[in-house]
Amino acid sequence: MAQPQSQPLIRILEDGPLLVSGGVPLYRSTILTDADGFSVGYSEPVLVPTHGTYTLCRCGEALDGPFCDGTHVETRFDGAEQADCRPFDEQAQRFPGPGTMLLDVLPLCAGTRHCTLAEGDTWELVEKSDDPHLRELAIRTAQLCPAGRLVVLDPATGAALEPEHEPSIVLLEDPEVKSSGPIWVRGGIPVQSSDGTVHEVRNRVTLCRCGESHIKPFCDSVHIRLGWHEGKGKG
Ligand code: FES
Repeated sequence: MAQPQSQPLIRILEDGPLLVSGGVPLYRSTILTDADGFSVGYSEPVLVPTHGTYTLCRCGEALDGPFCDGTHVETRFDGAEQADCRPFDEQAQRFPGPGTMLLDVLPLCAGTRHCTLAEGDTWELVEKSDDPHLRELAIRTAQLCPAGRLVVLDPATGAALEPEHEPSIVLLEDPEVKSSGPIWVRGGIPVQSSDGTVHEVRNRVTLCRCGESHIKPFCDSVHIRLGWHEGKGKG
Protein backbone atom coordinates (compact mmCIF):
# COMPACT_ATOMS: atom_id res chain seq x y z
CA MET A 1 0.00 0.00 0.00
CA ALA A 2 1.33 3.46 -0.86
CA GLN A 3 2.57 5.43 2.14
CA PRO A 4 0.84 8.80 2.70
CA GLN A 5 3.09 11.67 1.56
CA SER A 6 4.33 13.94 4.36
CA GLN A 7 3.74 17.69 4.11
CA PRO A 8 6.31 19.68 2.14
CA LEU A 9 9.09 20.96 4.38
CA ILE A 10 12.58 22.43 3.95
CA ARG A 11 14.90 21.91 6.89
CA ILE A 12 18.15 23.83 7.18
CA LEU A 13 20.81 21.45 8.43
CA GLU A 14 23.47 23.06 10.65
CA ASP A 15 26.50 23.98 8.51
CA GLY A 16 25.10 21.67 5.86
CA PRO A 17 22.52 21.39 3.09
CA LEU A 18 18.78 21.91 2.82
CA LEU A 19 16.79 18.77 3.47
CA VAL A 20 13.65 18.79 1.32
CA SER A 21 10.86 16.39 2.20
CA GLY A 22 7.23 15.89 1.25
CA GLY A 23 7.63 15.17 -2.44
CA VAL A 24 8.42 18.75 -3.48
CA PRO A 25 9.03 18.93 -7.25
CA LEU A 26 12.37 20.44 -8.26
CA TYR A 27 12.78 22.47 -11.46
CA ARG A 28 15.32 24.52 -13.32
CA SER A 29 14.48 27.85 -14.94
CA THR A 30 16.36 30.77 -16.48
CA ILE A 31 15.65 34.47 -15.96
CA LEU A 32 14.54 35.86 -19.32
CA THR A 33 15.51 39.30 -20.53
CA ASP A 34 14.24 41.39 -23.44
CA ALA A 35 16.37 42.99 -26.16
CA ASP A 36 17.18 45.91 -23.83
CA GLY A 37 18.32 43.63 -20.98
CA PHE A 38 15.26 44.08 -18.75
CA SER A 39 14.21 40.96 -16.82
CA VAL A 40 10.76 40.06 -18.09
CA GLY A 41 10.04 36.58 -16.78
CA TYR A 42 11.30 33.01 -16.55
CA SER A 43 11.80 30.17 -19.00
CA GLU A 44 9.42 27.21 -18.82
CA PRO A 45 10.51 25.19 -15.74
CA VAL A 46 12.27 21.91 -16.52
CA LEU A 47 11.74 19.10 -14.01
CA VAL A 48 14.84 17.75 -12.25
CA PRO A 49 14.44 14.06 -11.29
CA THR A 50 14.41 13.51 -7.51
CA HIS A 51 13.47 10.62 -5.27
CA GLY A 52 11.21 11.71 -2.43
CA THR A 53 13.44 13.40 0.11
CA TYR A 54 16.56 15.11 -1.21
CA THR A 55 19.34 17.44 -0.05
CA LEU A 56 20.24 20.63 -1.90
CA CYS A 57 23.68 22.14 -1.50
CA ARG A 58 23.76 25.54 0.21
CA CYS A 59 27.52 25.84 0.73
CA GLY A 60 28.13 26.61 -2.95
CA GLU A 61 30.87 24.00 -3.27
CA ALA A 62 29.12 20.81 -4.46
CA LEU A 63 30.91 19.73 -7.59
CA ASP A 64 28.20 17.89 -9.44
CA GLY A 65 24.91 19.70 -9.73
CA PRO A 66 22.55 21.13 -7.14
CA PHE A 67 22.63 18.25 -4.65
CA CYS A 68 24.84 18.04 -1.56
CA ASP A 69 27.83 15.77 -2.16
CA GLY A 70 29.40 16.14 1.29
CA THR A 71 31.96 18.78 0.26
CA HIS A 72 30.68 21.07 3.04
CA VAL A 73 32.33 18.76 5.58
CA GLU A 74 35.77 19.05 3.95
CA THR A 75 35.47 22.83 3.56
CA ARG A 76 34.04 23.27 7.07
CA PHE A 77 31.19 25.36 5.74
CA ASP A 78 29.93 28.00 8.17
CA GLY A 79 26.20 28.02 7.48
CA ALA A 80 25.25 30.20 10.44
CA GLU A 81 21.80 31.71 9.96
CA GLN A 82 21.55 35.47 10.39
CA ALA A 83 18.12 36.19 8.87
CA ASP A 84 15.72 38.62 10.51
CA CYS A 85 12.97 36.28 11.70
CA ARG A 86 10.28 38.94 12.14
CA PRO A 87 7.20 38.60 9.90
CA PHE A 88 7.45 40.28 6.49
CA ASP A 89 4.70 42.74 7.35
CA GLU A 90 6.62 43.93 10.40
CA GLN A 91 9.85 44.46 8.43
CA ALA A 92 8.30 46.04 5.35
CA GLN A 93 8.62 49.64 4.24
CA ARG A 94 5.33 50.91 2.77
CA PHE A 95 4.95 52.79 -0.52
CA PRO A 96 1.32 53.89 -0.99
CA GLY A 97 0.02 54.69 -4.46
CA PRO A 98 -3.38 55.68 -5.83
CA GLY A 99 -4.10 52.22 -7.27
CA THR A 100 -2.08 49.87 -5.10
CA MET A 101 0.23 49.76 -2.08
CA LEU A 102 3.75 48.34 -2.25
CA LEU A 103 5.49 46.58 0.64
CA ASP A 104 9.27 46.25 0.38
CA VAL A 105 11.90 44.45 2.49
CA LEU A 106 15.14 45.56 0.84
CA PRO A 107 17.53 43.03 2.49
CA LEU A 108 15.63 40.17 0.80
CA CYS A 109 16.60 41.37 -2.68
CA ALA A 110 17.76 38.42 -4.82
CA GLY A 111 18.96 40.72 -7.59
CA THR A 112 16.82 39.32 -10.40
CA ARG A 113 15.89 42.85 -11.54
CA HIS A 114 12.26 42.11 -12.45
CA CYS A 115 11.39 45.40 -10.69
CA THR A 116 12.80 47.53 -13.51
CA LEU A 117 11.20 48.13 -16.90
CA ALA A 118 11.56 50.81 -19.57
CA GLU A 119 8.31 52.35 -18.23
CA GLY A 120 9.88 52.76 -14.77
CA ASP A 121 10.64 50.74 -11.69
CA THR A 122 8.01 49.19 -9.44
CA TRP A 123 8.12 52.12 -6.98
CA GLU A 124 7.53 54.67 -9.78
CA LEU A 125 4.79 52.51 -11.29
CA VAL A 126 3.04 52.35 -7.91
CA GLU A 127 3.22 56.16 -7.65
CA LYS A 128 1.44 56.38 -11.02
CA SER A 129 -0.96 53.50 -10.39
CA ASP A 130 -4.04 55.62 -11.08
CA ASP A 131 -3.18 54.75 -14.71
CA PRO A 132 -4.61 51.21 -15.21
CA HIS A 133 -1.75 50.14 -17.52
CA LEU A 134 0.95 51.30 -15.10
CA ARG A 135 -0.94 49.73 -12.18
CA GLU A 136 -0.94 46.43 -14.03
CA LEU A 137 2.81 46.74 -14.63
CA ALA A 138 3.40 47.60 -10.97
CA ILE A 139 1.53 44.46 -9.91
CA ARG A 140 3.24 42.27 -12.50
CA THR A 141 6.77 43.44 -11.67
CA ALA A 142 6.19 42.90 -7.94
CA GLN A 143 4.71 39.46 -8.54
CA LEU A 144 7.72 38.42 -10.64
CA CYS A 145 10.07 39.11 -7.71
CA PRO A 146 11.06 35.55 -6.72
CA ALA A 147 12.24 36.57 -3.25
CA GLY A 148 8.91 38.05 -2.21
CA ARG A 149 10.86 41.19 -1.37
CA LEU A 150 8.11 43.14 -3.14
CA VAL A 151 4.44 42.55 -2.37
CA VAL A 152 1.54 44.64 -3.68
CA LEU A 153 -1.75 45.04 -1.86
CA ASP A 154 -5.27 45.66 -3.08
CA PRO A 155 -5.97 49.09 -1.54
CA ALA A 156 -9.68 48.29 -1.20
CA THR A 157 -9.28 45.05 0.76
CA GLY A 158 -5.68 45.20 2.00
CA ALA A 159 -5.19 41.68 0.62
CA ALA A 160 -1.87 40.76 -0.99
CA LEU A 161 -2.11 40.34 -4.75
CA GLU A 162 -0.07 37.17 -5.01
CA PRO A 163 0.62 34.95 -8.03
CA GLU A 164 -0.51 31.35 -7.79
CA HIS A 165 2.31 28.87 -7.28
CA GLU A 166 2.16 25.16 -6.61
CA PRO A 167 4.50 24.05 -3.81
CA SER A 168 7.76 23.67 -5.74
CA ILE A 169 11.43 24.62 -5.83
CA VAL A 170 13.12 26.25 -8.81
CA LEU A 171 16.88 26.50 -9.32
CA LEU A 172 17.44 29.80 -11.11
CA GLU A 173 20.07 30.69 -13.67
CA ASP A 174 20.84 34.32 -14.54
CA PRO A 175 22.91 34.48 -17.74
CA GLU A 176 22.45 38.26 -18.08
CA VAL A 177 24.77 38.76 -15.09
CA LYS A 178 26.83 35.62 -15.78
CA SER A 179 25.82 33.86 -12.58
CA SER A 180 23.69 31.06 -11.27
CA GLY A 181 20.83 32.30 -9.15
CA PRO A 182 19.24 31.36 -5.83
CA ILE A 183 16.87 28.57 -4.82
CA TRP A 184 13.35 29.86 -5.46
CA VAL A 185 10.86 28.35 -3.02
CA ARG A 186 7.28 28.73 -4.13
CA GLY A 187 3.80 27.93 -2.89
CA GLY A 188 4.12 28.27 0.88
CA ILE A 189 6.63 25.57 1.80
CA PRO A 190 7.72 25.99 5.45
CA VAL A 191 11.43 26.64 5.99
CA GLN A 192 12.72 25.37 9.32
CA SER A 193 15.99 26.69 10.72
CA SER A 194 18.60 24.39 12.20
CA ASP A 195 17.45 25.44 15.70
CA GLY A 196 13.90 24.29 14.93
CA THR A 197 12.41 27.75 14.37
CA VAL A 198 10.01 27.85 11.43
CA HIS A 199 10.17 31.06 9.40
CA GLU A 200 6.97 32.80 8.36
CA VAL A 201 5.41 30.67 5.62
CA ARG A 202 5.29 32.68 2.41
CA ASN A 203 4.28 32.18 -1.21
CA ARG A 204 7.70 33.27 -2.52
CA VAL A 205 11.14 33.20 -0.92
CA THR A 206 14.67 32.72 -2.23
CA LEU A 207 17.29 30.70 -0.36
CA CYS A 208 21.05 31.11 -0.65
CA ARG A 209 22.95 28.40 -2.51
CA CYS A 210 26.31 30.13 -3.04
CA GLY A 211 27.01 29.91 0.70
CA GLU A 212 27.93 33.59 1.07
CA SER A 213 24.68 35.39 1.90
CA HIS A 214 24.72 37.58 5.00
CA ILE A 215 21.09 36.71 5.73
CA LYS A 216 21.23 32.92 5.48
CA PRO A 217 19.20 30.91 4.87
CA PHE A 218 17.79 33.60 2.54
CA CYS A 219 19.49 35.01 -0.54
CA ASP A 220 20.87 38.57 -0.46
CA SER A 221 22.07 38.61 -4.13
CA VAL A 222 25.78 38.32 -3.24
CA HIS A 223 26.09 35.48 -5.80
CA ILE A 224 26.00 38.12 -8.56
CA ARG A 225 29.03 39.98 -7.22
CA LEU A 226 30.84 36.65 -6.87
CA GLY A 227 29.83 35.43 -10.34
CA TRP A 228 29.00 32.16 -8.63
CA HIS A 229 28.08 29.13 -10.76
CA GLU A 230 26.50 25.87 -9.65
CA GLY A 231 28.89 22.92 -9.81
CA LYS A 232 32.05 25.00 -10.12
CA GLY A 233 32.81 25.52 -6.45
CA LYS A 234 34.19 28.88 -5.30
CA GLY A 235 37.83 28.32 -6.23
S1 FES B 1 25.98 21.71 1.48
FE1 FES B 1 26.85 19.75 1.18
S2 FES B 1 28.17 20.04 -0.53
FE2 FES B 1 27.28 22.00 -0.23
